[in-house]
Amino acid sequence: MIERRRSKLHGWGVFATERIPKNKRIIHYAGEKITNRESATREQVYLDQGTIWCFKLNSRWVIDGAVGGNVARFVNHSCTSNCYAQIVDGVIWIRAAKTIEAGDELTYNYQTEGEKSIQCRCRPGCRTRL
Ligand SMILES: C[S@@+](CC[C@H](N)C(=O)[O-])C[C@H]1O[C@@H](n2cnc3c(N)ncnc32)[C@H](O)[C@@H]1O
Ligand SMILES: [Zn+2]
Repeated sequence: MIERRRSKLHGWGVFATERIPKNKRIIHYAGEKITNRESATREQVYLDQGTIWCFKLNSRWVIDGAVGGNVARFVNHSCTSNCYAQIVDGVIWIRAAKTIEAGDELTYNYQTEGEKSIQCRCRPGCRTRL
């Protein structure tokens, strides 16, 4: 249903290889489950490298996609995304926000809370920072 390819947004991205219906659970965001405290330390290291891998599960736990993660960690951000993230029983699902056509890049809104040091490149002139 999906595969990793080079993206115009940034580095690697994830693309649909077939039509994906609206609301389909496409993939879960896998990785090591760590505490918020541990995440703060790791996030700083990752941000210094210009990347974001930690996905907040709730006020106590975070999933670090850089450790034991799957292809979901390569899904890029867009301010006008075609996917959304939904947490169900401690699992972060990437779901289709609309019908996605074969060849489309999958994106969701990261809704980051941190330093916002990365300029979003989802479209020319986007003023969002991740
Ligand atoms: C979870 S990774 C996504 C995979 C990444 N493209 C790669 O090749 O490693 C998140 C990182 O991708 C980049 N990224 C994702 N969406 C972006 C966007 N809309 N604009 C600019 N950079 C983006 C940022 O550097 C962010 O820290
Ligand atoms: Zn944007």
